[in-house]
Order: sequence, then structure tokens, then C-alpha cells
Amino acid sequence: MDKQLHWNTIYSQKSEDDLSWHQDDPSISLELMKGAGLTPQSSVIDIGAGTSRVVDRLLAFGLRDITALDLSRSALVKAQGRLGERGEIVRWIAADVTRWETSRTFDFWHDRAVFHFLVDPVDRESYLKRLSRSLGTEGHAVIATFALDGPEKCSGLDVRRYSPESLSDELGSSFDLVTHRFHIHHTPWGRPQSFQYSLFRKQE
Ligand SMILES: C[S@@+](CC[C@H](N)C(=O)[O-])C[C@H]1O[C@@H](n2cnc3c(N)ncnc32)[C@H](O)[C@@H]1O
Repeated sequence: MDKQLHWNTIYSQKSEDDLSWHQDDPSISLELMKGAGLTPQSSVIDIGAGTSRVVDRLLAFGLRDITALDLSRSALVKAQGRLGERGEIVRWIAADVTRWETSRTFDFWHDRAVFHFLVDPVDRESYLKRLSRSLGTEGHAVIATFALDGPEKCSGLDVRRYSPESLSDELGSSFDLVTHRFHIHHTPWGRPQSFQYSLFRKQE
């Protein structure tokens, strides 16, 4: 299956109100990052950013070093269009997180509803390598996935569901689980979906 085509088709054919994962206010993500010391000087990469409002909120908080990565160029073009001039300082990267390479590091890695699509252990290993390389020492990662009682599929694709503990096991011993939140997200048409958000700190 061509995943890039899958996601580009969704973003080019559907409005935000038709996207189950759409949320107007990504407050838990921001709350967790702020609790971990986010400042306007921090650097953040949003993995699988889609058309999420996380970038808007980071810009409003005064951040200048923001990167939004997504497999779907259509999603990034939509997000850029929404932000207009405000989005000009954001680095927009159309790439597969399991293949993308970078030589720089970030203070924060944010991923809402992307890691849970990696059902192949090889893809998870590639993702985790990039997570580890992309975070500076004591960098933080917020990773939100469907919780154990969440949906088994999203957008027609299988997902793996996690508890904070099982996600922590997946990340391995070089990441400390700092805290977590459980959250019931309501799709734009009102269906509840159970998420967990975990905050990790990379060890020295
Ligand atoms: C369920 S949506 C979540 C979007 C956004 N994080 C949010 O909370 O609104 C999943 C996103 O991950 C992107 N995606 C899926 N697989 C990816 C991959 N391997 N690399 C990068 N992005 C990916 C999709 O294009 C889509 O935008």
C-alpha cells in the first residue's frame, strides 16, 4: 500500500470536519510541553503534523524554531495556507518519519496519532532511532496514541494501542516516562476515542 498516496488523498478530498482526529485545541500537548520547560527559545518538531493546531499554538507562544513534518504534502500545504505569513518561519518537511534524516537536534519531539500507525516492528525501530538521534540530551518527547481501550483502526488503517507503560517499554531504557494523561477525544461528529499522552525525557 502506498501510504503517501493514502494520506494525500484524505487531505485533498476531506474537510477538517471529516477528519476523526481533528481537534480545535491541542491543549494537552501544550500543557505537557510547558510542564517540561517549553519556552519561546525552544525548538520543536511536530511529527505527522497534518493540519494540527499545535504549530499555531507554538507560534502564539513565541517560538521561532518550529519544524512540521508529515508524509502528506497536501496536509502541509493546507496548514501553510491557513497560517499565511505567520507560517513562513516554520520549516515544512514532507517526509516519512521512518526514513527521514537530519543532522540537527530539537528540544521537543511531538507526535499525536502517528506512532500508533507503525504496526511493523521494523518501522517502529526506524522511528525510535530517529527519535533518539533528533533529541538533544534531556530533550523531551510527547507521544499521544490511542489508549488500550481506544479504536483498533483509524482512517482504515490498523493501529497499535498503548498504555503509558507499554509505550515506555517500546521506547526503551534511554527514555524516562515523566508523566502521562488519559484523554477522551471527541471526533467532529461526536464519537469518543480514548487516547493516552505520555511525556518522556531522554537520559544524558
Ligand atoms: C491521525 S493524523 C494526526 C495528525 C496530527 N498529528 C493531529 O493530531 O491532528 C496522522 C498523520 O500522520 C501522518 N503520517 C502517517 N504516517 C506517517 C509517516 N510514516 N511519516 C510521517 N507522517 C506520517 C499522516 O499524513 C497524518 O497527517
